[in-house]
Amino acid sequence: MTKRAPLANWLNDTNDVVAVFLAAGQIPDLINLAGGLPAPDAWPVDQISELAGRVVRDYPTETLTYSPVPGLPYLRDILAARYSTENSPLTRDNVLITTGGAQGLDLIGKVLLEPGALIAAQSPAYLGALDAWRPRTPRYNPMKLETEGFDPKAAMTGAQFAYTVPNFSNPSGRLVPVAQRQQLIDAARDTGAWLVEDDPYGKLFYDGEALPSMLEMCGDGSPYAGPVIYLGTVSKELAPGLRIGWIIAAPEMIKALATAKQGSDMFSSGLCQMVAAKAFEEGVADTALPGILDLYRARRDALCAAMDEHLSDLMTWEKPSGGMFVWAKMKNPAISTDALMKAGLDQGVCISPSSVFDPEGTDQSSLRINFTLNTPEKLTEGVRRLAATIRQMA
Ligand SMILES: Cc1ncc(COP(=O)(O)O)c(C=O)c1O
Repeated sequence: MTKRAPLANWLNDTNDVVAVFLAAGQIPDLINLAGGLPAPDAWPVDQISELAGRVVRDYPTETLTYSPVPGLPYLRDILAARYSTENSPLTRDNVLITTGGAQGLDLIGKVLLEPGALIAAQSPAYLGALDAWRPRTPRYNPMKLETEGFDPKAAMTGAQFAYTVPNFSNPSGRLVPVAQRQQLIDAARDTGAWLVEDDPYGKLFYDGEALPSMLEMCGDGSPYAGPVIYLGTVSKELAPGLRIGWIIAAPEMIKALATAKQGSDMFSSGLCQMVAAKAFEEGVADTALPGILDLYRARRDALCAAMDEHLSDLMTWEKPSGGMFVWAKMKNPAISTDALMKAGLDQGVCISPSSVFDPEGTDQSSLRINFTLNTPEKLTEGVRRLAATIRQMA
């Protein structure tokens, strides 16, 4: 037998459920309620294609050569201005451009985690964050924010950082109230833990007004140096294929993250950075938003109406006021949602089971359903198939 050095140990610590649901995309006529994909109809295709041609012609150097590691100053300045408030004035030194929000999570793991370090994570947690930090073999303190008497200070003590998605968390769809945002900031100050605010869904409010971000809540009028590390992305407002995200944080943290980025991909595509910069400057993102909100609100309503009709005796859930997901819990604890996902594939429907969002990988009580990708008709049919699957399993 040929002798070969072994692969790293952390590769054994994964879950085959993810591979199964990613492969499910190949099944014909499957209704995919599992992913977290935006609707292609929501992309401003003509505007992005016109911008892409124009920025290459007008800015050949910025778009086609190597870019500075922290990002193009032009885009960093636009983002600094976009997120500055009276309480939290920002400059480009507070901004790092990343290759999607996903890279922001990876870089945070690289600069803050020694092997075995502790993360306090809002639970259930975004699968992509768990995947990003897996090679660092962290320990987790799960933060169940909705539990009565939840004590953020106790949860964050000893943690390198707390990971939160305050606006319509992936997967739970939960909106963290302002008072609890303040408690998280206070706990970060008391414990010394950094506070990661991952915010891809911050613009996707379907009912009511947007809440203030923790980034803007924690400023005191001086140049921003707070404990919040804020992550944004164009993925849900413009298009995920651009792979442009950003981190807003204290300048010392931005420098550390840029050092990690240099060893990772050196810089994010200058072409995509210029497209994003012009899309913000010329209002493409803001103009596209009302249409996206109308489309997604109607889909959320269609999904929840179908769930009311077909699933109310089988599971419990709350209708989310934004984001992309409904999180539901099985009434019958004997039905594992890992098994439900696999059984659903035979009926032509795919959901995401709770085990993949659990840092321990053990919770099989709940499931995540996406409502942005499919039409109302497909959502209704998907829910019918899901209900039929569960009734066969019971
Ligand atoms: C909570 C959360 N964070 C980060 C991301 C990463 O987004 P992207 O890398 O497309 O910017 C996602 C994508 O779905 C997400 O749901």
